[in-house]
Amino acid sequence: MNTGKLDPARIPAHIAMVMDGNGRWAKEKGMPRVAGHNAGMQSLKEIVKRCSVLGVKHLTVYAFSTENWKRPQEEVGGIFKLLVLYINSELKELCENNVKVSVLGEIDRLPDEAVQKLQEALEATKDNDGMEFHIALNYGGRREILLSVQKLAKLAAEGKIDPESITEADLEAGLFTAGFPDPDLLIRTGGEKRLSNFLLWQGAYSELVFTDTWWPDFTPDCLEDAIIEYQSRDRRYGGLTAEKRGTK
Ligand code: IPE
Ligand code: IPE
Ligand code: MG
Repeated sequence: MNTGKLDPARIPAHIAMVMDGNGRWAKEKGMPRVAGHNAGMQSLKEIVKRCSVLGVKHLTVYAFSTENWKRPQEEVGGIFKLLVLYINSELKELCENNVKVSVLGEIDRLPDEAVQKLQEALEATKDNDGMEFHIALNYGGRREILLSVQKLAKLAAEGKIDPESITEADLEAGLFTAGFPDPDLLIRTGGEKRLSNFLLWQGAYSELVFTDTWWPDFTPDCLEDAIIEYQSRDRRYGGLTAEKRGTK
């Protein structure tokens, strides 16, 4: 438990979350894994609301990775059914809270019903200018970088760009996250201390917060604790501390 106080003036502009631990939460309770995902969805509802209230501009959640297809079909199907239920129950409130939904990843591989629901959410919220809520689905950081590189390689092969002049900004423009800031704070619940192929490019200077709390137990107060932890960090970006720069 963090004893510091949240500074409302320094809320991270972009928070990214690896929502991990649903399966182990369920196992501990003798329940099927899908029950864990269901409980995780309830957590997500509350976290989205709190982020929006706190004034977070971008929230990105890792909901399904390019590697998660390795799981039993029943679990995969259950996760996408829950996604449909989530949109059904939350879309009205997301609109009322001026939240704009977007998707990161190649969603054409998802079940039709999930794709349709996502499109409905994207369409219904497209003019909202409050928090941007990005859901990473069939997302993989390596795949994302590869797709961007392929687009650039094609342009180079066609003689439209000079390979020598390709910049980081050009590569970034081909990522799913094009146009929004890198995550300031990346939180992973569930005890594992790894990125699992999430935001590999964008996370270069993210502050990482790992917590043992299973995702279904991760409350808005836990989120605030993670932000307090973030606010205590000294982000140097390879430079010097604020003190040594003479700005503090
Ligand atoms: C994260 O929880 C949700 C998804 C990957 C979809 P897990 O299902 O990975 O839960 P654990 O890690 O097995 O506990
Ligand atoms: C990462 O969790 C993916 C999501 C939370 C969607 P995993 O449970 O798939 O990651 P690993 O297998 O522990 O690395
Ligand atoms: Mg996991």
